[in-house]
Amino acid sequence: MSKPVEIYAHRGCSGEFPENTMAAFEAACKIGADGIELDVQMTKDGEVVVIHDEQIDRTTNGIGFVKDFRYKQLKLFDAGSWFHPKFSRQTIPSLQDVLDLIKTSDSEMKVNIELKNDVLLYEGMEEKVLQCVQRSGMMDSVILSSFNFKSMGRMRELDNEIQTALLFEGIPSNIMEEARKVRANGLHSEASFAVSAAGKRTVEAGYPLRVFTVNQTDKLEDLARSGVSALITDYPGLFLENKSVPF
Ligand code: G3P
Ligand code: MG
Repeated sequence: MSKPVEIYAHRGCSGEFPENTMAAFEAACKIGADGIELDVQMTKDGEVVVIHDEQIDRTTNGIGFVKDFRYKQLKLFDAGSWFHPKFSRQTIPSLQDVLDLIKTSDSEMKVNIELKNDVLLYEGMEEKVLQCVQRSGMMDSVILSSFNFKSMGRMRELDNEIQTALLFEGIPSNIMEEARKVRANGLHSEASFAVSAAGKRTVEAGYPLRVFTVNQTDKLEDLARSGVSALITDYPGLFLENKSVPF
């Protein structure tokens, strides 16, 4: 018996490319990942951009908060050299650019958009993200997630069909109740939750469970046996050869 587990490239193939850049997402397409995960913040002029941190300091040659720059200003920064000088031409992509890349890659790839609105609330971000997804024609391929459960509730108010997921750490006992409250479809957890009794109950209840961030193959069989739907990893290449896990 075997259980296929989907492999999502975390921030693109971020183990080998600068995270959340076009180079990292192009690599994920090339390697045949089942999906990508990316993080979004919002600029001063309301553009949804793909970057993990609220500030640009760690992953670009600039300093300051994303929310204090206009999109055109942000595009001037180098988002690749911090990782390796050969990526000096990489910039912070817009969400629209990444969705268009996946759309035109002719693949069936899914896109997990993580709304980074748990530190800064970014009023109106849900509407902007939804507009990007609608414009790209990728409503069926996108999964929205956030540590901000209310934001996923807001998404559900805006659209009844789009896939949403709660993102959480540890082993909360009431997560299905939280998911019901905001009508979320899926759960994104750490590996410890997936192999716990609480985690297995969510799978039995029909929630797709996607696990972050798994960078070693040693837990793969246990996770597959627990019924997880997907692994989110910095190194998709490590897992793609083991997609059908015997147990
Ligand atoms: O979406 C899963 C994972 O990306 C959450 O943590 O900090 O890597 O965005 P982080
Ligand atoms: Mg993330």
